[in-house]
Amino acid sequence: MAGEERNLTPKVVIKDVKKVYEGRNGPVVALNGANLEIQDNEFICVVGPSGCGKSTLLNILAGLLEPTSGEILVDGKPVEGTSVDRGVVFQQYALFPWLAVKKNVEFGLKLQKKSKEECEEIAMKYIKMVGLEKFTNSYPKELSGGMKQRVAIARAYAVNPSLLLMDEPFGALDAQTRTQLQTELLKTWEEEKKTCFFITHDVEEAILLASRVVVMSARPGRIKEVIDIDIPYPRDQESKMLPRFTELKNYIWNMVYKEYLEVQK
Ligand SMILES: Nc1ncnc2c1ncn2[C@@H]1O[C@H](COP(=O)(O)OP(=O)(O)OP(=O)(O)O)[C@@H](O)[C@H]1O
Ligand SMILES: [Mg+2]
Repeated sequence: MAGEERNLTPKVVIKDVKKVYEGRNGPVVALNGANLEIQDNEFICVVGPSGCGKSTLLNILAGLLEPTSGEILVDGKPVEGTSVDRGVVFQQYALFPWLAVKKNVEFGLKLQKKSKEECEEIAMKYIKMVGLEKFTNSYPKELSGGMKQRVAIARAYAVNPSLLLMDEPFGALDAQTRTQLQTELLKTWEEEKKTCFFITHDVEEAILLASRVVVMSARPGRIKEVIDIDIPYPRDQESKMLPRFTELKNYIWNMVYKEYLEVQK
């Protein structure tokens, strides 16, 4: 029954991850035992008060930072350094300013030693996906914030990572562009079903996108609660009108607010 065999290894296992930074005024415990399992194809959104260790966790997952103790397994193997199999999108669109849109999107493909034709074909597919065909040869400085973030998303998708890590990718955008990119990202995820780990401050955004929302507690960060978002896909902006959406929003918002108050103490 080989055809029916299912891969039971979780995509990601976060095991007792602790991170202590050596801060200017002594050690800062950013994460104090984070535990989470993520299955293949899940869309995880992480919310929590500022400074609770969200970016720290994402950077450890990306292999950009090492945990002080504990470990993260991806496909059963410990994370050691960065990998093209884990695409990262940051809040500040980290594009190469000296490269035009197409070259930015092709960058990782060239590292994967794909042929010129293949690079071009794949880059154009994702440039189209994010609606930037008309800007293929533009430079980042000629683009708006939302357009730059579209390029960053196209670049992350182009190398076909099995895991996408996004740290407040829409945080710097105006509400309208943000809404538009949420809808695009949802559509892409519904089509490609890549495992996503997405950090946001916006509870509505988290519920709209996620299959599960992870709420982190005030620093030192732990995972406080994981909430199943039982609103069926496909979703769109109209999903925000559902009574269940409002219920989940109130529940999660209150929890995040309580943690925010802890930070103020
Ligand atoms: N390089 C560093 N050296 C010392 N302390 C750090 C360093 N990076 C982060 N911190 C501290 O670790 C804690 C967690 O930071 P982190 O950036 O992970 O939080 P965050 O949840 O992403 O916050 P935000 O929502 O504001 O982005 C904070 O208190 C921060 O000041
Ligand atoms: Mg952060």
